[in-house]
Amino acid sequence: MPLSFTLTTPPADRVKADLLALPVGAGRQLGPGADAVDAAFDGDLAAFMEEADFDGKPGQTLAVPAGDGLRAAAALLVGVGPLDQVTVDGLRRAAAAVARKATKVTSVATTLADLAEGADLERPAAVQAVAEGFVLGSYQFLKYKADGDASKLAKVIVVGRSGARVDAALERGATVADAVTWARDMVNEPSGAKSPAAFAKAAKKLLTGKGVTVKVLSEAELKAERLGGVLGVGQGSANPPRLVKATYSPQGKKGFVALVGKGVVFDSGGLSLKTSSGMETMKTDMSGAAAVLAVMSVLKELGVKAKVVAYVPMVENMPSGAAIRPGDVLKIRNGKTVEVLNTDAEGRLILADGLSLAAEDKPDAVVDVATLTGACMVALGEKIAGLLGNRDSWIEQVKEAADAAGEPMWPLPLPTEYRKLLDSEVADLRNISTVGYGGALTAALFLAEFVDGVPWVHLDIAGPARASGDDGYLVKGGTGFAVRTLVELVDRFKKPARSNSAD
Ligand code: BES
Ligand code: MN
Ligand code: ZN
Repeated sequence: MPLSFTLTTPPADRVKADLLALPVGAGRQLGPGADAVDAAFDGDLAAFMEEADFDGKPGQTLAVPAGDGLRAAAALLVGVGPLDQVTVDGLRRAAAAVARKATKVTSVATTLADLAEGADLERPAAVQAVAEGFVLGSYQFLKYKADGDASKLAKVIVVGRSGARVDAALERGATVADAVTWARDMVNEPSGAKSPAAFAKAAKKLLTGKGVTVKVLSEAELKAERLGGVLGVGQGSANPPRLVKATYSPQGKKGFVALVGKGVVFDSGGLSLKTSSGMETMKTDMSGAAAVLAVMSVLKELGVKAKVVAYVPMVENMPSGAAIRPGDVLKIRNGKTVEVLNTDAEGRLILADGLSLAAEDKPDAVVDVATLTGACMVALGEKIAGLLGNRDSWIEQVKEAADAAGEPMWPLPLPTEYRKLLDSEVADLRNISTVGYGGALTAALFLAEFVDGVPWVHLDIAGPARASGDDGYLVKGGTGFAVRTLVELVDRFKKPARSNSAD
């Protein structure tokens, strides 16, 4: 059940809830509303915090008695670091910390958003982050657990001034975070339950009534449309591939963005088989697809002005008597041929078709999102996505959206000098580099061959698509990474310049 959110005016000690969560800054400085708890302690709260080793560090929490001064049944202090330096992401994390401690109650009230002015933050952005933090921090995937201990939290009361922009921001936070939740659920779903056909069906169900038209290409249609990359990767699986095209085209549209997401529902590596441990998390390999589809589901509700079209190839990469072999040659939608020397470099093959289709529709700009390379994880670790592309101004626009959304991304180069590492003796390209280094860059150079000069950004989310443990508002498992960035991006979309540096 999605959380419900309301705003209510201060003072916090007048708010009725099962739990009242109050921020405390570094050095145990009391945040908005926390003085009421201090009063209940006869001014001894500082000593209590010290005894409990609670000093207001970000992420710390401390349950305290509510006393007679509050109308809430219980109180929880939450650390946020220096009060005047709180960031939007800090609020998101603090809200998540509260959500994790509030699984046994039905309603929580909090003054977290009231830190906005003291920290010089825009109040709407603060409120949105608090909503996101609650939804994302209380996320659980219990579908397959008989004795799953589901959180009882249902209602969040944000204490603070209301107003049109603030109310809309609260809504927006809840809407976007619910979309992230859908993406997480899809990623956490076992591969056996998300064949390409089943994934496409789930996408259709998600997007019904969301102002988006959805077309699902069957295997026969993929053949008719000459999507050789998708067909080639999919041919080894008993579960045939699909491609979902979802179109959002608002009245008086301003600009046209294409989104492409890697939808490998399971990546065994194919005949270039992965190790057993290398396969353990490969149900995650459709995270880009899930993110893109989740974004499509909120565009109408958020009143996005740009036209947005998603192209989402879905395949299962399996070894079998019918599987593609190392040395086979595939013909991609745009006519280029690829010698497949490693069947585990499959993401770029299906994205090549997706990007070709996108480019044909002549968007102003395109973004692809993919769990593409282990090499990107070597470069940037588990938390940071690689950001590559062919137009500086478009790369910057995506980076700004990511920064605003609080999703860490870092630019990597697209060195034309490395393009020759993809030269093949028999085809236009080979699907892996002739050298072992720089794999995130050569993967992107491969993709660049299919965008036909359209301003393009590639997000390699191999690391951040999955969290190896609970952290802030991330919960172990699928993260829904890139949903929030892409929503920001399409919402504030500006046509990038037609040309610059690296065409
Ligand atoms: N899906 C993987 C990339 C990946 C690896 C994502 C680990 C998340 C965690 C991708 O299809 C893949 O197998 N890439 C290969 C490419 C190589 C064969 C050139 C890789 O990174 O090893
Ligand atoms: Mn692979
Ligand atoms: Zn893969």
